[in-house]
Parts: sequence; C-alpha cells; structure tokens
Amino acid sequence: MVPDFIRNKIGINLHNKKGHPLYNLRKKIQDYFHMYTFDNLYPVVSVEDNFDSLLIPPDHPSRRTSDTFYTDDTHVLRTHTSAHQVNLLRKGYRSFLMCGDVYRKDEIDSTHYPVFHQLEGLKICRSPIMDLHKNMEGLLKFIMGDAEVRKVNSYFPFTNPSWEYEVLWQNRWLEIAGCGIIHPDILKNLKIEGTGWAFGIGLERIAMVLHQIPDIRLFWLKDERFLNQFKNNYEHVIFKEFSSHPPCTKDISFWTKPDFQQTEFFSLIREVAGDLVEDVKNIDTFTKGDKTLLCFRIVYRSMDRTLTNEEINEVQEKIRKMAVKNLNIEIR
Ligand code: DAH
Repeated sequence: MVPDFIRNKIGINLHNKKGHPLYNLRKKIQDYFHMYTFDNLYPVVSVEDNFDSLLIPPDHPSRRTSDTFYTDDTHVLRTHTSAHQVNLLRKGYRSFLMCGDVYRKDEIDSTHYPVFHQLEGLKICRSPIMDLHKNMEGLLKFIMGDAEVRKVNSYFPFTNPSWEYEVLWQNRWLEIAGCGIIHPDILKNLKIEGTGWAFGIGLERIAMVLHQIPDIRLFWLKDERFLNQFKNNYEHVIFKEFSSHPPCTKDISFWTKPDFQQTEFFSLIREVAGDLVEDVKNIDTFTKGDKTLLCFRIVYRSMDRTLTNEEINEVQEKIRKMAVKNLNIEIR
C-alpha cells in the first residue's frame, strides 16, 4: 500500500545526520529547551496512536487513505510526531522533545514533499499558557532572530485552546508551529493529574526561510555541494545555488468521476517520477454531468543534470498508464 519511493525514505533520518541543515536546526531547538529528545522512534504507528489517542474524530479528513499512507488496516506512516505523545506520557515521561520524519499525501511544489520532519515538545506543568508562550516566543527569537512572528488562534482536536505561530517571510505569513494546552480528556484518559502544553514545529519550513533554500527536494540530496554549505558555522549561511538545469513541462488531461482524489494522483506522480518532478498544478477544470475534465501541468527538473525530452516522455507515458490503471480515469 505504501509506494517504494516512500518506503525507501524510512530509516534515512535526515534529522540525525551530523551537519545536515535539519540536524543543525533540531540541535539549536534542543539547545534552547534542554529537554530529553527522542529522535529514533519508528515512523510506523497504530491508527490509535496517530489519531484516536489524540481525540481526532473518526470522520476527520486527515484519516482518509487519500491523505495518509496506511501500511495495513490498523497502521499508518505517522502524519505527525504528536503520534507519540500519549505513549510517552503513559511510560511516565512528563517533559520531552521528539523529532522525526512524518508522511503525508500532499500537493507537489517547492515547499511540499510527501516526507518532512517535525520537532515536537511537551511539558506537564502549572500555568501552562504562560509557560507555553514564554517558551514559543523565546524559541522563535532564538532561531529566527529579528524576524517578525505572530500568534493566531487555531484549532487542533488534541489541544484546547490552540494557537499557531507564524513568521513574516517575503510579505507572507507562514505557519511554522502549532501548539496549545493539552486537552484535559487526554490527561484524564491517562489518569494524569495536572495540565501541560505541547507544540509541533515543521523543520523544513524554518530551514528554508533561514537559509533561503528554494526547493524542499534539496534536503534529500547526497551532493556535497549542498551538504558542505552547512557543515561549519552554519548559522548565517545563505544557500548558494550550485547548478540550475532547465525545466521540462508537460500537460496531462483526463476525465474523472466523483471518486477522484487529487492527492492520490500526486502520490502516483511521485511514485513514477521520484525527485524529477518539481511542481504540479491543476490548470483547467471542466465539468459535464458527473464527469470532470482536469488538466494538470507537470514541471520536471532534475537537481543534478539536464533531462532529455525522450526520458520525460517515457515518465509521462508511465504516469498516464498507471493513472488509467489505478485511478478510474479516462485520458482525453
Ligand atoms: N501535530 C500538529 C500538526 O502536525 C502540530 C501540533 C499542534 C502539535 C498542536 C502539537 C500541538 O503538539 O499541541 O499539524
């Protein structure tokens, strides 16, 4: 059920690779909190841990097979590091960080990749609202320097109240962290008396802003020309482009039925094209009766070589064939 392209990411653990920008960032967050960090928890977790234990309702969209990678009927590739909260609390831990790879079927563009990394923190304490905001503001100042941040009200099933922290980046507010006061029912279910806070931060987003890294696929490169830039004295490194190869753009149009899920199509493209695909956009939609004609523009670009048209035609043909076979569509 999980494509090889995704399965092969398990165990790579970029956040544990010395000198990698994601490793540097998580070390920096650890330096701020001085809390024990779990960084090697296995990413296949039960549906119960990922959703039920966090009070995520049975009909929540994030549970759909179109959003989440199921490894079998009762297990998923964790969609967030929050999946470990309840188990660690049950084992007796009362304040900790955890860092790991998380998996979601998502858009395809320069800031979205089906695997990314989160760092989660949790603390049982008194006056958690005050303590949470003091820590979030302190942390963001510590890692982002003078960047402008703001806090907005939000909603997560497992915290109440909930907030999101955002950073101003090139005139846009980007969400970088969710947080809140642990929902009392979670603690009640565990027979823990008291209150506490939790937060979850996306590491790629922050690293992209800090170092001006233009494409999320770069984090996965084994190329020294990428990695060496962050090896020493990484704090103020601005990423230097080391190669730029031309893009190759192809359109694909097909008729879909109401059962069509765009994220399934994106996942299939990743499975076939791997890291060669840079961006996919729906550029046209036309509905007639219960059928919808969709046109997508796929931009291919390699991070390390120039692509040939023949090679991309082959990839495109494979995508077409697999989509017909697996997605109940009709090529126009
Ligand atoms: N798990 C959330 C997500 O992936 C982020 C998050 C929000 C984590 C609130 C938390 C929290 O621990 O309290 O979007």
